[in-house]
Amino acid sequence: MSVPAPDSQIDTSAALTYWNSCDPSVTGMLGGFPQVSRIDLQQSTTFLAKLRRASKTHPTSAPLSRIVDCGAGIGRITLGLLSKVATVVDIVEPVQKFTRQVSEGDDFKQLRDQGKIGTIYNVGLEAWEPEHTYDVIWIQWCLGQCTDAQVNALFTRAQNHLSPGGWIVLKENLSNNPFGEDVYDETDSSVTRTDDKFRALFKEAGLKVVATELQRGFPKDLYPVRIYAAQPEA
Ligand SMILES: C[S@@+](CC[C@H](N)C(=O)[O-])C[C@H]1O[C@@H](n2cnc3c(N)ncnc32)[C@H](O)[C@@H]1O
Repeated sequence: MSVPAPDSQIDTSAALTYWNSCDPSVTGMLGGFPQVSRIDLQQSTTFLAKLRRASKTHPTSAPLSRIVDCGAGIGRITLGLLSKVATVVDIVEPVQKFTRQVSEGDDFKQLRDQGKIGTIYNVGLEAWEPEHTYDVIWIQWCLGQCTDAQVNALFTRAQNHLSPGGWIVLKENLSNNPFGEDVYDETDSSVTRTDDKFRALFKEAGLKVVATELQRGFPKDLYPVRIYAAQPEA
């Protein structure tokens, strides 16, 4: 009997029911591990700074123009990293009670007053049609909600909305399944993919990985986490 592909079990409406039941807080975003947020943001900040130090088009001497935070939740990464390096940050997030933190919450008042919060798209990544050009398209801890075919379509669409020299940055848990397979998680109806699968998805969409690191310093009982920066093949 053939086993169904893990991503074929993704049920978008079940996923949204799950996320709508979660608290609009860092604890709710990070599955009960809010303490990893600081260390996550620290390494991501350094990773992006290293990319920019080696970049002719997006050097650290000037702010980035526009970034999009994909599957942004309550805007944890926008607040802690992206708004500090860019003039405008757009948000893609299907759950309105999360994006209300960004559009109405006190934590984001200053950023809103500064005009730093751009377009908020209340849709899933599978349905997002980018309208702007981005220096960085940041996708973190949400791609598992999309099937492989949806990821391929997203990567294909998104790379047409990168500025020259811009990056798609992806940071995700990695499957540590002993048979090297992706794993379906029924809690949030998502898939945890292997490193090989992520690299294959980039390649199939015509993207090359230009930098990648494993996250350091997380509790040992969590999945390994890897960050990738990818650019269109020349
Ligand atoms: C683990 S949280 C991560 C939030 C944020 N990226 C962070 O790191 O703080 C996963 C987020 O993905 C969102 N999500 C669920 N389905 C999605 C989809 N189809 N496309 C994009 N995001 C989705 C959830 O609502 C939730 O906000």
